[in-house]
Amino acid sequence: MEIQSSPKGFTKLKSSCHPTKLFVCISLLFITIVLFHLQVYSFYSPYSYSPTSASRNFLRKWRGINIVDVASDDRDHSKNTDANLTSKLRDSVTFLPLEDLRFAETAMVEHTWFMSSLNDTYGENEAEHLYFPSETSKGRHLCMKGSNRADGTKNSYALAWPESLPDSATLLKGLTFVSDTYYDYGNLWHGLTAMAPFVGWSIKNGWLRPNRWVLFHWGELRDKKGSWLQHLMQAGFGKVEVENFERGDGPYCFEKAVVMRHNEGRMGKARKLQVFDLLRCKARSFCGINPAGKAQEVNERGQPIIRLALLMRKGSRSCKNATAVIDIFAKECARVEGCVLKVVQSEDLSFCDQVRVMNETDIVASPHEAQLTNMLFMGRNSSVMEFFPKGWLELAGVGQYAHHWMADQSGMRHQGA
Ligand SMILES: *[C@@H]1O[C@H](CO)[C@@H](O)[C@H](O)[C@H]1NC(C)=O
Ligand SMILES: *[C@@H]1O[C@H](CO)[C@@H](O)[C@H](O)[C@H]1NC(C)=O
Ligand SMILES: *[C@@H]1O[C@H](CO)[C@@H](O)[C@H](O)[C@H]1NC(C)=O
Ligand SMILES: *[C@@H]1O[C@H](CO)[C@@H](O)[C@H](O)[C@H]1NC(C)=O
Ligand SMILES: *[C@@H]1O[C@H](CO)[C@@H](O)[C@H](O)[C@H]1NC(C)=O
Repeated sequence: MEIQSSPKGFTKLKSSCHPTKLFVCISLLFITIVLFHLQVYSFYSPYSYSPTSASRNFLRKWRGINIVDVASDDRDHSKNTDANLTSKLRDSVTFLPLEDLRFAETAMVEHTWFMSSLNDTYGENEAEHLYFPSETSKGRHLCMKGSNRADGTKNSYALAWPESLPDSATLLKGLTFVSDTYYDYGNLWHGLTAMAPFVGWSIKNGWLRPNRWVLFHWGELRDKKGSWLQHLMQAGFGKVEVENFERGDGPYCFEKAVVMRHNEGRMGKARKLQVFDLLRCKARSFCGINPAGKAQEVNERGQPIIRLALLMRKGSRSCKNATAVIDIFAKECARVEGCVLKVVQSEDLSFCDQVRVMNETDIVASPHEAQLTNMLFMGRNSSVMEFFPKGWLELAGVGQYAHHWMADQSGMRHQGA
């Protein structure tokens, strides 16, 4: 209060000065200038102390000097050294930009452009990752200022020892998953590949579950994942909050954190199969599907029923003439004994309806689309037919192989395009 009202007091003093009171005036002026200085200092200080914490520190320093003057006891002395050291450590915590533009050309290679000063930990068949606090971090916690949603270079990270966390830091208890993706969290396929390495990590570490998930894209905060990914996450881990750093501007430090910045990265094939098996199983149970399954159905002539689902979609990527496409599949299906065709508009379905439809499907046919990621919920060894309407293949680029990869990873048969 005193500090904030001082500039006003200054102008008032100037106008009411009398020569006889000159000494008092000069003294007051001096104090005012000192106080004003303190305020300016605290305003520009890199750790953005509030004026109150600056004055508190000022007082603490005063007391420190007094103690040294009065007591020369060794114990007090070493205590004081410790306190000085801790405060030095606290002050030396250095925040670096989350997105490092020097590595824009090699954004996804090795240490990537996300937290670029730190190298990954590699485990055989595991996705490369970072864990804090750990031996590699020398026992330091990961801290972040990460609330910027538009510019990853404005977000920052630092490492700090537990006894010298930066001033005004919030310690987030428990386990935090931190992911940075080059893609996004709304698209089913990209969302799944962002989540998979955490599932792999959890499987390896006694199924540890996170308290929260922090999502970044190019170092920019994302506070929403797509509804599909959100449901899959909930099916897998239970309710997991997406952290949005809204409890104030100060830095946040994580009690424990796992950072993934390569999506699946170097995760081995066996581990991927394990991850997808587990997610399939968790999603089915989340959606209340009977774990025993149904007996193989047969038609009236005793032939086993083969259920063919054709995934169609409205909107930009839909087929020019959907009726024509459906006709082709209906004709093909009619030629096979026991074949039953079901046409599904996947965007009309809830997460669990998608899981149910896929659970009742032996063969899925779909145009090249992220919706095909739903094949995750089919039984292993089911078949996938993917087709590319005219013009898409040229547009899809390397993305055209995504579902081949996925079918391979989740143990499906991909029946060409
Ligand atoms: C601790 O810091 C104070 C001032 O900040 C200094 O006067 C004192 O000598 C320091 N003590 C030790 C033991 O370094
Ligand atoms: C990261 O790895 C590179 C290349 O192996 C090495 O030069 C660098 O010192 C490592 N950095 C850290 C922080 O370990
Ligand atoms: C549907 O899910 C149940 C329960 O996991 C499973 O036993 C059954 O084989 C699944 N059906 C298909 C066609 O994948
Ligand atoms: C769509 O295809 C069907 C069957 O091939 C045909 O009868 C119909 O005229 C086509 N419609 C358009 C708008 O091309
Ligand atoms: C899938 O097929 C392979 C080879 O065709 C077979 O060895 C495996 O047991 C099958 N898996 C399941 C779950 O049916």
